[in-house]
Amino acid sequence: MEKLVVNGKRKLSGEIRVQGSKNSTLPIIAATVMCEGEVVLHNCPELTDVVAAVNILEHLGCKIRKEKDTLIINSSAVSVSEISETLMHEMRSSIVFLGALLARTGNAELSTPGGCEIGVRPIDLHLRALRELGVKIKEENGKLFCTAPNGITGNEISLAFPSVGATENVMLAATLGKGRTILNNAAREPEIKNLADFLNSCGARIFSAGEGRIIIDGVKKLHGCEFTVISDRIVAATYMACAAVTSGEMDILNFPVSHISPVLPIFTSCGCRITADENNLHIRAPKKLRSPGTVRTMPYPGFPTDFQAPAMAMACVADGTAIFIETIFESRYKHVPELKRMGANISVEGAVAVVQGVSKLTSANVYAGDLRGGAALIIASLAAEGETNIYNLKHIDRGYENIEENLARLGAEIKREV
Ligand code: EPZ
Repeated sequence: MEKLVVNGKRKLSGEIRVQGSKNSTLPIIAATVMCEGEVVLHNCPELTDVVAAVNILEHLGCKIRKEKDTLIINSSAVSVSEISETLMHEMRSSIVFLGALLARTGNAELSTPGGCEIGVRPIDLHLRALRELGVKIKEENGKLFCTAPNGITGNEISLAFPSVGATENVMLAATLGKGRTILNNAAREPEIKNLADFLNSCGARIFSAGEGRIIIDGVKKLHGCEFTVISDRIVAATYMACAAVTSGEMDILNFPVSHISPVLPIFTSCGCRITADENNLHIRAPKKLRSPGTVRTMPYPGFPTDFQAPAMAMACVADGTAIFIETIFESRYKHVPELKRMGANISVEGAVAVVQGVSKLTSANVYAGDLRGGAALIIASLAAEGETNIYNLKHIDRGYENIEENLARLGAEIKREV
């Protein structure tokens, strides 16, 4: 079974250029289905989730070429509007193709994405919003049969929760709809604005994306464009955490530093010294971290749920007690039992996890249960004494490009063994 073998207690130093954002690349790849012209997409990360999204594009009839981190996509020949169960289950966030397919073809047939390791992942907010845009949706035998017989009709919609995916599906569907759509209580994550910027580069008319209220004026068609995806804020913060737990020092390059504003207070509370300009950050860790205190996950611009697990790995080796409250997903503590096998002192009661920092972590065989939980195990292994084996790398490879090569270049003793 493939594993990462990590010998901990090596101080990390050096610089890392942050990869493109997975959670921007995926909805933008879906959006290319709507473009009747060539799209050149730069800064696409090499991830299994991106490969899964490209497989769906090819299945739909798009032509794709890849040149390093650039995807050249031509969707002029989109002829299919159904996505097979196999393709949907390769990556549950393929639900974002729904809005794009409806916009381009007026139809969409795909299987309901189902849950995943971190929760049930319902799509009720997506479906309710699309129905309010005039989409007819039949849910049968685990499949969604969607049609927009009179096209997508603009409307004013309010989301009960600022769901990232539901916001993206509304933006995609309404972009080629008739009239104006106003989306209230929209998600504000940076990836939302990046998707709007991409669509507007192709001729869409989307206003104030990234704020709680988005206005979309439907247009007739979208042309191609050349676009650069933003870099990944969660990956940037993950490398910062690797420096933090090894008393290291690191330059994190080529990402919008403002996108990690919600997590910077955690690092400074832990005693890290941070200097930054708009797109680069320098972090210097203390010999021993202090506890981050209380960490409550919230929709952006609150503390991101995707960084809860990596931050917990930091708290495990910090002085003092930290309290985590996971308010977004109902089962996002799969990393806790694995961290405890490495000597961490954590107790979980429902959505709350109390972490008592320990003087040291020790090596163990640990198993990633989900993407960010896997990142937490890597962070913990860098701080642990001895040789830790980390299994279930498929989770980690969904979101982190060349993780072992990058960490080795920063001074970690890490290798992948098949
Ligand atoms: C996106 O997932 C991200 N994935 C997730 O990142 C991220 O954790 C999440 O947003 C929150 O920031 C991608 O962008 C591909 P949501 P998404 O809809 O869109 C509930 C990672 O590690 N909900 O904002 O699925 C839902 O159950 C991944 O990169 C409904 O109840 O997140 C959850 O509790 C993991 N009904 C909450 O809202 C719905 O119809 C947030 O979900 C939709 C969501």
